[in-house]
Amino acid sequence: MSGIRKIIILVFGIVFLLLESIYLIGVFTRNPVEVTEDVEVLPGDNITDFVPPFVPLLNDYAVVAGYNLLGCNIRKSMSQLNYNLLCYLNNTKLYVERNQSLSDLWYNKRTSCKKISFNTYEPLIRKGKRRMEDLTKFAFIRNPEERFVSFFVDKCLKAKFCGNCTDVRCAVKMIYDRLMPLAHNHSLFIKTNEKWWFEWHSAPQTWNCDFYKYISDFHLIPIGTSLEDRQIAMKKLQKVLRFAKVEDEYIEKIIRDTLESDTKHATHNSDLSQQVLEQVQTDPYVRHYLHRIYYFDYIAFGMKLPEFFNGQDFPKEYIPRS
Ligand SMILES: *[C@@H]1O[C@H](CO)[C@@H](O)[C@H](O)[C@H]1NC(C)=O
Ligand SMILES: *[C@@H]1O[C@H](CO)[C@@H](O)[C@H](O)[C@H]1NC(C)=O
Ligand SMILES: *[C@@H]1O[C@H](CO)[C@@H](O)[C@H](O)[C@H]1NC(C)=O
Ligand SMILES: *[C@@H]1O[C@H](CO)[C@@H](O)[C@H](O)[C@H]1NC(C)=O
Ligand SMILES: *[C@@H]1O[C@H](CO)[C@@H](O)[C@H](O)[C@H]1NC(C)=O
Repeated sequence: MSGIRKIIILVFGIVFLLLESIYLIGVFTRNPVEVTEDVEVLPGDNITDFVPPFVPLLNDYAVVAGYNLLGCNIRKSMSQLNYNLLCYLNNTKLYVERNQSLSDLWYNKRTSCKKISFNTYEPLIRKGKRRMEDLTKFAFIRNPEERFVSFFVDKCLKAKFCGNCTDVRCAVKMIYDRLMPLAHNHSLFIKTNEKWWFEWHSAPQTWNCDFYKYISDFHLIPIGTSLEDRQIAMKKLQKVLRFAKVEDEYIEKIIRDTLESDTKHATHNSDLSQQVLEQVQTDPYVRHYLHRIYYFDYIAFGMKLPEFFNGQDFPKEYIPRS
């Protein structure tokens, strides 16, 4: 009996999520807005209790001219891999000459990468030679709760970038309290990197990549930490790179290097991360805030809301229709 009930609930859950994501993406992409000096209307403007989706965050783009390929870097979402592979494609010879591997911290040196990477909003690209419409665009998307754990461990605990917040409860509240006013004050949007540093790394993924406008035009590559997840992601990446007419030889190197480096340094599941993840899943206070911060990431990217969010409320502006 309960088995059948579970299946029914699961099926309804999936159907509901599908319908809702179609509905929401429709709502959010219907009226593309230009980010000029003044952003007037944004899709999430009327969302009050939840951190709204699709606020334009200054982007971290890298463009490989030879392939008309744009990789958008979402912080805490495989940004190193993203940069490494774009730098490699921009100059495959140099990479080999220097004996670089894609798993090196090439990103830190950025020698050949400086010229191809820039922080910008989309209209700044438009003013230049390139148009967003003509580029093959991709981004790695990460599971929000995993991404938060990585943020908390790297930025709050190791880099001590979260002020006095060294516990998870404090960090989730800090993220919420800092993102909400930004989301609701358009005059704050265009800011320098330093000022937004904290927000950059903690903001929902929908705030990146001019997704408020281009989400349906992006190749989105979900990527997780398990080897199996990586393999699936690499298959998707392969398709995107083929689409951009990257030579098979280069694609193979990228995939081989990435999977190899993963097996070598499997640091993702450190004890510390595991502990934090456990607190995320079990502490009602933490769950409450994370649900409010990242709810729309799950919806917009079609990810299943994890079970530990069961029983949480919904944004009142988007009460699920029965
Ligand atoms: C927000 O609400 C106002 C007033 O009801 C409405 O005019 C506006 O279109 C809404 N904006 C969005 C993005 O839904
Ligand atoms: C690499 O970047 C430089 C500088 O932007 C550019 O001139 C060159 O065409 C790029 N190479 C490829 C293969 O895209
Ligand atoms: C390149 O790396 C390989 C393997 O790590 C090493 O054996 C070789 O000596 C390196 N070559 C140069 C030029 O650094
Ligand atoms: C952090 O803690 C120190 C010492 O307890 C305190 O003086 C300081 O005001 C705190 N900073 C913030 C931003 O809360
Ligand atoms: C929005 O931010 C600007 C610049 O910091 C500030 O002057 C203004 O008071 C803020 N508006 C609201 C409604 O908070």
